[in-house]
Amino acid sequence: MSIINVENLTVTYDKIVALEDVTFKIDTPSINIIIGPNGAGKTTLLKAIMGLVKTTRGRIEVLGLNPMEKSFEVRKLMGYIPQRDRVMEGIPMKVTDVILMGIATKREWPRIISREDLKEAENIAEFLGIKDLMNKTFNQLSGGQKQKVLLARALISKPKILMLDEPFNGVDVISQYSIMEKLKELRKINGTTILLVTHDINPVIELAENVMIINRRVIAFGKVHEALNEESLSKAYGGGRIIFAEGKCYSIIGDTHHR
Ligand SMILES: Nc1ncnc2c1ncn2[C@@H]1O[C@H](COP(=O)(O)OP(=O)(O)O)[C@@H](O)[C@H]1O
Ligand SMILES: [Mg+2]
Repeated sequence: MSIINVENLTVTYDKIVALEDVTFKIDTPSINIIIGPNGAGKTTLLKAIMGLVKTTRGRIEVLGLNPMEKSFEVRKLMGYIPQRDRVMEGIPMKVTDVILMGIATKREWPRIISREDLKEAENIAEFLGIKDLMNKTFNQLSGGQKQKVLLARALISKPKILMLDEPFNGVDVISQYSIMEKLKELRKINGTTILLVTHDINPVIELAENVMIINRRVIAFGKVHEALNEESLSKAYGGGRIIFAEGKCYSIIGDTHHR
């Protein structure tokens, strides 16, 4: 049984074809980075895997389950960090409570928070190096700190699959690397499969196992060094150069807002 199996997936919104004939499979726990320009259908792909958007054609299986039919079960298996969480921006909430939301929303009523849950929130904060932030207000934090809190919120339910939609927006490079290192640890220790979306090519891609280049259709999917090349970048972004040097990946792309 695959962890994620997507076959000939097409998603349309009214007349816009957001994804077309997307096929790929993830069979082993791994870190998979999904890149593509704005409007390429990346967010739609994550939402389809969670059963949050209707598929027009094709088939999706998450650990053998159809996410449209078994949406509660599938969402319980997953941690999700949406692209810019607007809900979190307005309300002044304590960091501890933000983290605890990650379990509360996966429970049936009554959603009672126990002493064990609080302990678990502390453990996960400790793992991510944000324990000293727990009594702060979420709004006061820096971009990198906010992303780590949202990661803690996603991880507290111990998901088998973790999906992050553009988690590096507004995050400093040092925090990007430390988040990536934590994701690698999770994959290694808990066997968590990670799908991470980004619209620009980023040095941390080098730390992933697989990369998918997408622009409505899947242009390439595979090991980072194989899938990420000038041909696939040019198909996705309409041009681009890529340089691998001393084990790091550098890329120069013209217009990241091009479709
Ligand atoms: N709810 C929606 N209704 C109509 N069109 C949408 C909706 N969500 C996304 N789209 C369109 O679908 C395409 C893919 O969007 P999206 O998945 O958000 O791309 P990405 O995350 O790669 O930027 C875009 O053209 C976008 O405008
Ligand atoms: Mg998006």
